[in-house]
Amino acid sequence: MDTLTLHRPDDWHLHLRDGAMLAAVLPDSAAIMGRAVVMPNLVPPVVTTAQAAAYRERIRSLLPPDSRFEPLMTVYLTDQSDPQDIEAGYVDGVLSAVKLYPAGATTNSDAGVTTLGRVGRVLERLERLGMPLLVHGEVTDPDIDIFDREAVFLDRVLAPLLARHPALRVVVEHATTSQAVDFVRAHPGRVGCTVTPQHLLLNRNDLLVGGIKPHLYCLPVLKRAAHQQALIAAVTSGEPGFFLGTDSAPHTVHRKETAVGCAGCYSAPIALQLYAQVFDQAHALDKLDAFASLNGPAFYGLPANRDTVTLERAWVVVPNRLEITGPASAVRPLMAGQTLAWRVR
Ligand code: DOR
Ligand code: ZN
Repeated sequence: MDTLTLHRPDDWHLHLRDGAMLAAVLPDSAAIMGRAVVMPNLVPPVVTTAQAAAYRERIRSLLPPDSRFEPLMTVYLTDQSDPQDIEAGYVDGVLSAVKLYPAGATTNSDAGVTTLGRVGRVLERLERLGMPLLVHGEVTDPDIDIFDREAVFLDRVLAPLLARHPALRVVVEHATTSQAVDFVRAHPGRVGCTVTPQHLLLNRNDLLVGGIKPHLYCLPVLKRAAHQQALIAAVTSGEPGFFLGTDSAPHTVHRKETAVGCAGCYSAPIALQLYAQVFDQAHALDKLDAFASLNGPAFYGLPANRDTVTLERAWVVVPNRLEITGPASAVRPLMAGQTLAWRVR
């Protein structure tokens, strides 16, 4: 098979940032994806429906008039979130989901939820509305090893949360472990997960052996190869709980290549090609449409996109940098300088 036509995919987990960075990275996603769930961890975060609506306007104003790209907005759950505001945002079609960052778990998450007991009223409202809760599924307890933080979150936080809120629907964002795969399979229709290209293509050896690679550092951090294999088996099964979410998260080179580097991989320009490579290597290209284009909309209760994209086999070198406002503010894409086996026609 040298070409592959899919329903146009959607990105169910994307960081678009704001200002000059937004203007620079938006075209890479809008060229390929039909819709994208836009993360709210701006500085300051997007916490109200009005802020999400204003952010959506800033995104839309940068799209060409004939663009079919649709940003799906989220708000960032805080201890002070107002259930009424979230309901109004959902009913009015401004909001698609609510994002839970445990306070301190990752980039710009300091305003996140301190204890879930404080947001019980919001979670009850989400249950009633059928509105998804998107979780950054890692505990922040300093005693828990960074490689165990996802598995411990599922056990100690998410399982009890689902028991307390029996109708709550949850997306485990950027799943990285076999425990997350098992958790999704144990809650069909109720818990889904997004999987990034880097967690399918790479493991922690790629990050650390032969020298630390700051551009492969993201959160949750890359795990051991057995987890990578479990993720590959899950996504290439075509099962409905697993769907595309790049977690493309641009940071400038100088914020990645420094003593305390930021977490995040910029994959937007090449993500679909990388997923195709993973499915190709697993002899499962026939399941890419389910993962990339069908399972996500089904979970969110939306129709699949009606138009298509075609991938073709071709050797393409990934550019080394994308300049934002000039050479001093470049972003280095995931797999920069490497050769990919697929391109989008
Ligand atoms: O690697 C990551 N980068 N993980 C996250 O959870 C946040 C993201 C970002 O915003 O940079
Ligand atoms: Zn993210």
